[in-house]
Amino acid sequence: MEKKEEEGEGTELKVSKIKDGTVIDHAEGGYALDVVRILRVDPKKTSSIITIAMNVPSKRLVKGRKDIIKIEGMKLNLREIDMIAVVAPKATINRIENFEVISKHEVKLPSVIEGIIQCPNETCISNSEAEPVKSKFYSETKAEQITFRCHYCGEIVDQQKVVELII
Ligand code: CTP
Ligand code: ZN
Repeated sequence: MEKKEEEGEGTELKVSKIKDGTVIDHAEGGYALDVVRILRVDPKKTSSIITIAMNVPSKRLVKGRKDIIKIEGMKLNLREIDMIAVVAPKATINRIENFEVISKHEVKLPSVIEGIIQCPNETCISNSEAEPVKSKFYSETKAEQITFRCHYCGEIVDQQKVVELII
């Protein structure tokens, strides 16, 4: 059997298995905290055990580094699984029950993203304090490049910038 990426010997990092909850695997190296933010998990307000490993060697990702986020006791709904794609488009979501992986989902980028990122255009109606307008972006993928386009003003945000704009 092939050795698991994170369970190597010697100098490689070991991360404990969890009993019940969710493992978000193969986020691009460095993006784990953004995944936690996009899920609106507040570690100060939950008693769930959260384990984060960052920049773990991975053969599957182009940059050779991945992040892993393990949240004990948390179940993600399909919308939350889709939202993760905004910052971690290659992530795999594993649902764990009694130490077993009972389901595995590849994330999928939603075509419409509402109330998640702030439009960088200051004059956009979605930034107006007078109008209670929720931000709304359309995701577009061309030649593996992901961009987000504001429904109201047409402003384009690329994948590299999106993290800074998470509300
Ligand atoms: N995992 C965990 N606790 C468990 C079971 C699995 O934390 N009780 C983690 C593993 O460490 C791994 C992820 O969940 O990071 C997926 O587990 P598994 O499917 O067994 O690993 P792989 O076969 O390597 O997954 P993939 O094919 O998605 O790379
Ligand atoms: Zn806008």
